[in-house]
Amino acid sequence: MANHPLGFFEGTEMPTAGWWEALWPDPAGVLAAVGLRAEMDAVDLCSGDGWFTLPIAKLARHVVAIDVDPAILDVARHRLAESGITNVEFIAGDAYELAKLVTHPADFVFMANAFHGVPDQTRLVRAIASRLKPAGMLAIVNWQARPREETIVLGEPRGPKTELRMRPERTIKAVEAGGLKLVQHVDVPPYHYGLVFKHPSS
Ligand SMILES: C[S@@+](CC[C@H](N)C(=O)[O-])C[C@H]1O[C@@H](n2cnc3c(N)ncnc32)[C@H](O)[C@@H]1O
Repeated sequence: MANHPLGFFEGTEMPTAGWWEALWPDPAGVLAAVGLRAEMDAVDLCSGDGWFTLPIAKLARHVVAIDVDPAILDVARHRLAESGITNVEFIAGDAYELAKLVTHPADFVFMANAFHGVPDQTRLVRAIASRLKPAGMLAIVNWQARPREETIVLGEPRGPKTELRMRPERTIKAVEAGGLKLVQHVDVPPYHYGLVFKHPSS
């Protein structure tokens, strides 16, 4: 996957339908736990089919949803249109290019279920940091570093392969190397954790 022509990060394919909704029955609750507030300007990075983009858009002032896969963005576009949402911009592009893709600084950058597959995490975090407002936040939601056989949803092991999963300490180290600082660590049961980062000066 590392050499995919579209530049897909490894182990970040959108799952087949069904179990994602079972694993994430309350995406708005996850977003509240990692700091999304009303009237923020948000970016949903590696947004997939829009399962989190929709509740972000319901709360935020404006959302930019970015994904490298134009076909999955069409699914997201459809999901949000069906709910009558109009404050979203969809951009097909590589997350590394965030600084070029997003023209306005963000209060909140959300990245769920994708950071584990980024080959150069420091490069990505630098790009994100350059688009955060001075008090802006980066929230990363990652799979726990448990063996894949243990993360069962609807009767089957799910999520990225065990070797790709990152302990929180490793994620924190990678993000702090990119210039942001940890401000919050939350549990996201049953199989995830959330980490929130800000500019060190804020
Ligand atoms: C596992 S899905 C998660 C989607 C969404 N964040 C969620 O949690 O529901 C990961 C997404 O990352 C996208 N992706 C992979 N590599 C990317 C890249 N280089 N730039 C932007 N998006 C990428 C994939 O197309 C996929 O839709």
